[in-house]
Amino acid sequence: MYTEKVMDHFTNPRNMGEIENAKGVGTVGNAKCGDIMRMYLDIDDDGIIQDVKFKTFGCGAAVATSSMATELVKGKTVQEALEVTNKAVCEALDGLPPVKVHCSLLAEEAIHAALWDYAQKKGITIEGLKPPVADIDELHDHGDEEEY
Ligand code: FES
Repeated sequence: MYTEKVMDHFTNPRNMGEIENAKGVGTVGNAKCGDIMRMYLDIDDDGIIQDVKFKTFGCGAAVATSSMATELVKGKTVQEALEVTNKAVCEALDGLPPVKVHCSLLAEEAIHAALWDYAQKKGITIEGLKPPVADIDELHDHGDEEEY
């Protein structure tokens, strides 16, 4: 059974859509279920997330967790956004059924991937941020290999 909050964010998702010329865009997928999530971040010069949008091609829990994740990172600093873990997203939704917890991981990874993209574009390092892990083809490059 889904909580009221999950149902609310599934039927009325917040911040759905995309941001043109976003400062950071991250796409992650789960090969097992085939679901894909994309996050767009608009980050100002002080490193504050001014806007965030998402597109999710996936299950209801993935939509609800993306929606909640966008609410949790909006207005936060890049460093604070890193602390928005899948556990924090689950808690904010009053929990998810155990078989659906992995869906919230997609939200955490999508935010991290978008932050990673932002850092790459800006040429900065965000402490504690690891290269995104994505199953889908377009993100096969982890960005840390040397060309030779
Ligand atoms: Fe794939 Fe939910 S079943 S993200």
